[in-house]
Amino acid sequence: MLDIQQLHAGYGSIPVLRGIDLHINSGEAVGILGHNGMGKTTLLRSIIGALLPTQGSVQFSGQNVSRLAPNQRAKLGMAYVPQGREIFPNLSVTDNLRMGWVKRGRASAQDLDSLLTDFPRLKPLMDRMGGSLSGGEQQLLALARALAGDPQLLLLDEPTEGIQPSIIEEIAETLSVLRKQRSLTIILVEQNLDFIASVSERVMVIKRGQITGEIPREHLTDLDTVSEYTGVSTTH
Ligand SMILES: Nc1ncnc2c1ncn2[C@@H]1O[C@H](COP(=O)(O)OP(=O)(O)O)[C@@H](O)[C@H]1O
Ligand SMILES: [Mg+2]
Repeated sequence: MLDIQQLHAGYGSIPVLRGIDLHINSGEAVGILGHNGMGKTTLLRSIIGALLPTQGSVQFSGQNVSRLAPNQRAKLGMAYVPQGREIFPNLSVTDNLRMGWVKRGRASAQDLDSLLTDFPRLKPLMDRMGGSLSGGEQQLLALARALAGDPQLLLLDEPTEGIQPSIIEEIAETLSVLRKQRSLTIILVEQNLDFIASVSERVMVIKRGQITGEIPREHLTDLDTVSEYTGVSTTH
């Protein structure tokens, strides 16, 4: 469903991604692990179209989307939860969720109710301002907003960053339920090994803008092995 070939991208004349090849099948959950600054966010932004490649291609569901704008890719079924969540602090939870529908051009109370059955924690918070929620609640809101457009491919950028462990587990559970229900394909960028291991079926390592290897899931529990693969030493 997603086929990335020899993708190069960067900022101005500074190259960041240097020949990424990544093939992801429909329904898979793939983790991407890497140190700060290795190009994880840049890769996700290139997939959703916030950044255009200097070389290479992104194919999505058999279509070359390399030159399409983010809103066009969203209409085709991509959704993105950015690093730091980027919810609207001065809009209510309800209005934040509405923004998710705007992207795919749909909205109804029925949709909102069915969406909320997967996010019970948000139900009592609907009238609160986004900015008044805890980090974990904001992350659930960002996730719900991304799912409001009923995407096939969900991209998550460090969803556990700065979030309490109890909500991290809830997010992992929500993702696994949603994956089964909706046959979602997931790409998860993370530095939290427990979380990446609980969500992903396979884990790729990114180093200096290149995919340098794959870590078998069962090796994720062995921190020394993971350090060898990634150089990430501060793991939880
Ligand atoms: N908007 C930007 N302008 C210039 N350089 C950037 C920008 N965003 C990221 N970079 C640089 O690109 C590299 C990769 O960044 P990023 O993809 O955010 O890494 P990661 O998400 O793995 O921490 C870093 O060297 C970073 O400083
Ligand atoms: Mg990042």
